Parts: sequence; C-alpha cells; structure tokens
Amino acid sequence: MKVLITGGCGFIGSALVRHLIAKTDWSVVNVDKLTYAAVPSSLPADIDASTRYRFARLDIADTPAIEALLSETQPDAIMHLAAESHVDRSIDGAAPFIDTNVVGTSRLLDAALGYWRDLSDGRREAFRFLHVSTDEVFGSLGLVGRFRETTAYAPRSPYAASKAASDHLARAWGHTFGLPVIVTNCTNNYGPYQHPEKLIPLMIIRGLVGEELPVYGSGANVRDWLHVDDHVAGLLAALEHGKAGGTYCFGGNAELANLAVVEAICDRLDERAPPLTGVETRRSLIAFKTDRPGHDQRYAMDTRHSKKALGWTPTRDFRAGLTETIDWYLANEAWWRPVLADGATDRRGLRQAGA
Ligand SMILES: NC(=O)c1ccc[n+]([C@@H]2O[C@H](COP(=O)([O-])OP(=O)(O)OC[C@H]3O[C@@H](n4cnc5c(N)ncnc54)[C@H](O)[C@@H]3O)[C@@H](O)[C@H]2O)c1
Repeated sequence: MKVLITGGCGFIGSALVRHLIAKTDWSVVNVDKLTYAAVPSSLPADIDASTRYRFARLDIADTPAIEALLSETQPDAIMHLAAESHVDRSIDGAAPFIDTNVVGTSRLLDAALGYWRDLSDGRREAFRFLHVSTDEVFGSLGLVGRFRETTAYAPRSPYAASKAASDHLARAWGHTFGLPVIVTNCTNNYGPYQHPEKLIPLMIIRGLVGEELPVYGSGANVRDWLHVDDHVAGLLAALEHGKAGGTYCFGGNAELANLAVVEAICDRLDERAPPLTGVETRRSLIAFKTDRPGHDQRYAMDTRHSKKALGWTPTRDFRAGLTETIDWYLANEAWWRPVLADGATDRRGLRQAGA
C-alpha cells in the first residue's frame, strides 16, 4: 500500500506518518508546503532515511506539480490533512484559510480526479481520497446534544467555514465525478508534537516558565478531546473499511470546560516542573481575557456510527493522556523551543474583530 499524505509535517499528519513508517509496511509520500505550522523535526531522522518514505515540499494548490507527483509515485490513496488550522489566526486574517483549505482542496481534488481516472479498473475501484475535517463545521452546541454524521453544517468562524467549504467540495467531487471520497470529522486533538500555539501546549509552555495563562471569557467553553493516536487509528480504519461516499465522526467522549483543562495542566506542572519563585500554585497565573469573537460554546460528538461501521473506538483516557502529554513537553524542550521563534505563544484572534 502506498499513500500520499498532505500536511505530514503538521501535528496530526506527522503522527500518521510516524505510525505508518514504524508500525506498517506501507510507503508514504508526504506533501507539505512547510508553512509556519510545519515542524519537520516531528519526523525523526530514521523516517527520512526510510526507503518507504518520500518528502515533497509542495503547495497542494500547485496543480502541475501535484499531478506530476501523483503520476510518478502512483499512490493507492490520498489522505488530505494539509490545512490552515488555527481558529484565532483565521480571525486575524482569513485569506490563507481560503487559499489552502478551499482553493487548495479543490485543486487537489482535481489533480486526484485526473489521476484516478487513468488508473486500471482494479486500482480505480480500491482508490480512496480521505478528506480530514473537524467538528467545528457543525457550529456550536448548547448544554445538551451531540454532533453526528447527519448534523446540518453551521460553521461560525472563518476556519470552520473554510473547512466546511472543503468538505462540500470533497463530497461534490464524489457525487458529481465519482471520485471515491471519504470525509471524517473529528473533535479537538491533543498529544505530543502539537504546535505551541494550540491551547494545551500553549498552557504547558507558558505555565512552565511562569507566564500568564490567558483563558478566553470565563473558561466555560466545552471541548471534546481525542488523543492524536486515536485519531490516526480512526483515519486508517476509515481508509481501510470506510465506504466511498461515507462520513465518519471521531471524538474522545471527553468533554471538559477549557478552564478545567488549564487547571489540570497547572496541577500537573506544580507536581512535575520546578517551582516558580513567588508563585505558590500555577493556577494563580490564570488570567481571564475578553472572549474570542464568535466563540463556539460547546462541541461534542456522537461516534456510534464510526464505532459500528469501522470497529473503531478511542483507547486513551483523557486525564491519563493529558498527564503523558504534559510530561512529553517537559521532556522535549529541544522540540518545542525552536518553534517559539515566531511568537507562537502570543494571543491571536483580535485584530480583525476590533476587540
Ligand atoms: N488539530 C485538531 O485538533 C484537529 C481536529 C480535527 C480536524 N483537524 C484537521 O486535521 C488536519 C490536520 O490538522 P493539524 O492540527 O495537524 O494541522 P497543523 O496546522 O498542525 O498542520 C498542517 C500542515 O499542513 C501544511 N500545509 C498548510 N498549507 C499547505 C498547503 N497549501 N500545501 C501543502 N501543505 C500545507 C502545513 O505546513 C502543516 O505541516 C487539518 O485539516 C485540520 O483541519 C484538526
């Protein structure tokens, strides 16, 4: 099996590449433009050295280059993870989100369609284009209810709207042209190698050095957390067992208010990290800030369909997984320190909103 992965130097893509090279005999072609979000050192040197791994620094919107790569490498599937992925950045400026998530995805679909049409009958039948998306396309929940595969789309941030557009495009290429597309929608991921601009690493790194821990609003917004390795298992289950035209939702059944996540990080850092002068507990670093504009209140996922259709189930307990993740960041400063250079732990999302 040979799979072309887009965004393989990002958080989830790199977890997927590490898994495929270490745990399977599959070959991987990793297409990544290397934006600010890419951290190539998330892929250890033995991956680079593997004969089953190939890296191509390309923009998914560069149709001629993607067409040439597909024709040369002859993958059996495409797993599309490349995206602009940070909600706060999409509020500061939506243009890169439209360029990559919408235009880039449509161009990748076109290139994939041309390639797929030229495959032999058997390979065409088996081919899959797996489009990786988010629960944020469904909008915001109140106190009750969960999203599922049939929930109507109601994206509310520029990021969510761009991902929603990309989901619609992927399904349209399936319905209109017959490309065997699968769409997956997943809740918030956490785990090692996540870019320090995202909530959990941001709080770990700021808490470690004793910086203020900025929490939006009262911290009551609820997210469901899935360990990145459980997401990777879901993506591979969808690729191998999912139906063309199918949608599969993944979630960790681990709903928590943002404040509770930050407090858990503070408590673990107090146990494991060196004490801070003049700071009795890291919870005292928490600072409530003006809420994120348009902040969705709650996300939660009903994953019964994926469990039944794919035999997939999350294996990691969130509290244990969070502790492991904090310990990973404590032990891997050499990975995250260089990534901090571009102001990764600054608060974003306020420029366009005028807040
Ligand atoms: N992180 C989450 O919690 C989460 C949850 C659900 C779904 N998703 C989706 O999963 C996918 C991966 O998310 P992530 O958190 O790993 O993202 P990430 O921001 O960590 O990584 C994205 C990667 O895509 C690459 N990329 C961006 N634009 C590109 C382009 N035009 N051409 C080629 N490569 C490009 C970047 O260089 C980077 O390596 C995204 O599609 C995201 O919407 C993420």
